[in-house]
Amino acid sequence: MIKRNLVLIGAAIAVLVSTGCAVAQSYSEDEIGLRKTSLYEEEKTVADLGKFVAPAAGESTPIARSFENAPPMISHDVEGMLPITRDYNACLDCHMPGLAEALNTLPVPESHFATFRPKVGSSDSNIIYDGKAVDNTADVITVVHKMDELSGERYVCSSCHAPQSSNAQLVENVFSPEFRDKDGIAKSNFLDVLNDGI
Ligand code: HEC
Ligand code: HEC
Repeated sequence: MIKRNLVLIGAAIAVLVSTGCAVAQSYSEDEIGLRKTSLYEEEKTVADLGKFVAPAAGESTPIARSFENAPPMISHDVEGMLPITRDYNACLDCHMPGLAEALNTLPVPESHFATFRPKVGSSDSNIIYDGKAVDNTADVITVVHKMDELSGERYVCSSCHAPQSSNAQLVENVFSPEFRDKDGIAKSNFLDVLNDGI
């Protein structure tokens, strides 16, 4: 009986190995990169830059958020608006609170008029966060430090909010978001949920 079982197990392993071999495919070096050129010559390959074509600001349709509190992508044309420099930031002309509402778009949210960085210091044996000694920095919940003006951390809008190009997806994105708040697909509530679950 033991012998018969061993034969059966052996046969099962043989089937697994043979099907495994059938599935395993080999790829040449021209096929393994997203650029589909030889890895030895890829510096000569120019990626498809795509086209950044979108309706003008005021005529575009906002793009659904990728996930809850994701930075919204820029649905309109940004011709002449980038790069943002110290002396030039066109985004502010239309998106600052008090201006955006009249243009029928969202104003820069409250979270951008704040910093989340604690004032860090140290005493003899402790790290001091916002004037309080802490034993373990992992226990610290995020504290919002509201500011009267736009935080410098948020000045270069395009580091988080990007215009969209026409490129095809090289790898299909199969992620599908779930929004706890039904409005979350078009609006953020970051400060309200900042320490949720902590
Ligand atoms: C001339 C005014 C104007 C300028 C300048 C402008 N925007 Fe906009 N923006 C709008 C309007 C209006 C909308 C609403 C969609 C529409 O009507 O096209 C919008 C939509 C957006 C959205 C989508 C908001 C949502 O509801 O999801 C983002 C993000 C955005 N703009 C970011 C920017 C950034 C970043 C810049 C600077 C590079 C910028 N905008 C410059 C007027 C402007
Ligand atoms: C460091 C990344 C970052 C930078 C820089 C940044 N944003 Fe955002 N922005 C976000 C994120 C994340 C959200 C969504 C969560 C939130 O509201 O804080 C957001 C939300 C927004 C919204 C939607 C608010 C709403 O009610 O849904 C607007 C409009 C916006 N940002 C405009 C801007 C503009 C204009 C600038 C430049 C002055 C800018 N942001 C700079 C990350 C950024």
